[in-house]
Amino acid sequence: VNVTESTNSLTKNALDHCIFPMTFKDDVQKYGPMIMASGSGCHVTDIHGKTYLDAMSSSSRASSLGYGNEEVAQAMYRQAKKVHYVGSAAWMTEPMIKLAERIAELAPGKLSKTMFVSGGSEAVETAFKLAKQYQHASGKKPNAYKIISRWNAFHGATMGALSATDWLPIRETIDPRVPGYSFVGNPMAYRNSFGMGVEEYEVFCANHLERQIQLENPKLVAAFIGEPIMQSNGAQVPSKGYWQRVREICTKYDVVMIVDEIITGIGRCGHWFVSEHFGIEPDIITSAKALTAGYIPMGAVITREEIADAMPMFRHIHTFSGHAVAAAAANAVLDIKEREGLIPKALANGEYLQKALKQAIGDHPIVGHIRGMGHWHAVDFTSNKATKAVFEDDTVKAIATRMVEHGVLSTAIGTSVEIAPPLTMTQSEFDTVVSVYKTSVDEVSAERGLA
Ligand SMILES: Cc1ncc(COP(=O)(O)O)c(C=O)c1O
Repeated sequence: VNVTESTNSLTKNALDHCIFPMTFKDDVQKYGPMIMASGSGCHVTDIHGKTYLDAMSSSSRASSLGYGNEEVAQAMYRQAKKVHYVGSAAWMTEPMIKLAERIAELAPGKLSKTMFVSGGSEAVETAFKLAKQYQHASGKKPNAYKIISRWNAFHGATMGALSATDWLPIRETIDPRVPGYSFVGNPMAYRNSFGMGVEEYEVFCANHLERQIQLENPKLVAAFIGEPIMQSNGAQVPSKGYWQRVREICTKYDVVMIVDEIITGIGRCGHWFVSEHFGIEPDIITSAKALTAGYIPMGAVITREEIADAMPMFRHIHTFSGHAVAAAAANAVLDIKEREGLIPKALANGEYLQKALKQAIGDHPIVGHIRGMGHWHAVDFTSNKATKAVFEDDTVKAIATRMVEHGVLSTAIGTSVEIAPPLTMTQSEFDTVVSVYKTSVDEVSAERGLA
C-alpha cells in the first residue's frame, strides 16, 4: 500500500470536511473513506493504488459503461464549448431535443414525451406532479392528490419521493411525511413476512393494491408508483402476471401508473426499459443513472402525449432541466449501447452470470436464493435453509466487505449481497466476480462455523 503525504492529507481532509451519507461513522473510521483516484473500463483505483473490479457500477449502479470512456468525455467537451447550458424553462438545445426524440423511439408504446431533470429523486417528484396536474386538468379526478407506493420501496431522497419510500434505515427520520401517501405489499422472491408462497403472495399484493385504492377513495388517488424490479433485499424480480394485473387495476380506477426505472432503465436488465419484459405500458416512466452512464447527473420523466398535454402549462421547473452537456453525454451513451448491442448482450450475460453463481455457491449451506436479470443479481443468505431465517448478525455485510478486501466491489443490501456490473463487463471479469464471491462466502462461513 502506497501511503504518501498527499494520500494522508486527502484522507484527513475528507474526514474533517466531508459529510458521509448513509455510512456509519464507525465504519468510516475503521475502514477509512474509499477515495477513488482513477478508473479504466470496469476497474477503479483508490488513492493508495489498490485497484478493484467494480461489480457495482460506482456503487450506485449508474456507471453502465465503466470508467474513462473517451467517446462520452469528448461529446461532453464538444458540447461544453458549443453551448454548455441554457435554462430550459424558456430555451432548449439541439442535444436535448435529439435525446427526447430517441427516448420516444426506445420507450414502450405511446410514451413519447420527456422532461429532463437532474437525477432520480427529481424525476420522481416530477412524475408525481405530472400525475396530479393531469388528473386535475383532464377533469378525470379534480381533487386527486393521493399516491400509493409499496412496502420496502425506495424512490428517492427529496420529500415527495421520500414520502413514497419505505426503507428502514431512513424511515424514522422523515415524519411527518407529505400527506396522502400510503403503501401496499410488494412481491418478494424467496421469503415474505406472512410465510406465503411466492405466487400466492404476488396475488395478495395485487389484490392489496385494489383494496387500498378503494379504501383511499378512487377519486382521490392520483397515482401508483413501483420499481419494476425492487432493490430491497436484492433484485426482486416478480412475475409478468403481477405487473400485468397492476396495469389492469390502475386502468380500472384511472390511477396513473408510474414505473420507476431509475435503476432498470437504459439497459441494466437487458431491455431499454424493463417494463417491456413485463409486457406493460406504464403511464409514466422515470429514468436516471444509466442514462448518462454516470458521466454527469441527469434524470428523465417519460409519458404519453395525453398526459403531458392535458394542462395548459406544466407547473414545475428545475434550473438544470435538460442540461445540454448532460444531453450530449446521454446521446453518446445511447450511441455506444446501440452500436455495440449492449442491451441484448446484457440479457445473455445475465443468464451466464446466474448460472455461474448457482454452480459456484448455489448449494452452500448459507445461500438461500440466487436471483436477478441482465446485469443485476443478488444472493440472499439464510442462517437456516429449512426456515429461511435471516442472519441477525453482520454475516451478510461481512461477505460484502470480504469481497472488497479481495478486490471486487459489491454491496450488502438487507439480507442479500448484490452485484450490478457495468454493461461492458466481460465474461472473464464475471468469472473473477463469481470466484471472489465464492471465496468470500467460504471464508466468512468457515470463520463463523456456518459450514
Ligand atoms: C428506484 C430508485 N428511485 C429513485 C432513486 C433516487 O435517485 P437519485 O439518488 O438520483 O435522486 C433511486 C436511487 O438509488 C432509485 O434506486
